[in-house]
Amino acid sequence: MPAVVVFETLFGNTALIAGKVAEGYGDDSVALTTDEVTPEALARADILIVGGPTHSMSIPTEDSLDFVARHRHREHTSLKRGGPLLREWLDTLEHSEGPVAAFDTRYRGPDGRGGSSSILRRLRAAGYHHIVPAEGFYVEQVGEKPEDGARLLHGELDRARAWGESIAAKVESLSD
Ligand SMILES: Cc1cc2nc3c(=O)[nH]c(=O)nc-3n(C[C@H](O)[C@H](O)[C@H](O)COP(=O)(O)O)c2cc1C
Repeated sequence: MPAVVVFETLFGNTALIAGKVAEGYGDDSVALTTDEVTPEALARADILIVGGPTHSMSIPTEDSLDFVARHRHREHTSLKRGGPLLREWLDTLEHSEGPVAAFDTRYRGPDGRGGSSSILRRLRAAGYHHIVPAEGFYVEQVGEKPEDGARLLHGELDRARAWGESIAAKVESLSD
């Protein structure tokens, strides 16, 4: 049975990681944004995996997105989004005791508290339980400020694929 990976992205990096996690999990798993995911897709999945970018040690807010949009003069097309913010989507999840995993993208650093802790807190509030520790995938800043952009560090896509594989193995071991 597949995994559903639900993600949010501003500059595209978290989308790439989400795709690799789904690929690593296998079984026709899919990576979907909050406007693409449906209750049917969630019901079909063995596990829900949720990821987002880190904004101010949490996940994006209307304020953080507005801040970046103002900075970039609303030129950046990936700022246009159809679905709810990931944090809003998480807050509307139906109660479930199903398994979950969470990840974020973030800068590599000693103080690195990533957005995945905010994701996990919301998933736990809906009843879910996590079966692997939250994972952070590393980006570096492009330009002078965080709002200028980010790109993945070398090797992170492979690490994302391997993380997806390890979650599949964990789900398998739990069902034995
Ligand atoms: C407004 C803003 C705040 C950010 N705050 C943090 C932070 O507190 N910690 C961190 O590691 N990265 C921070 N970043 C960098 C993001 O982690 C990075 O932009 C993100 O991982 C890129 O993912 P995306 O391409 O999917 O948007 C911030 C970026 C922006 C734009």
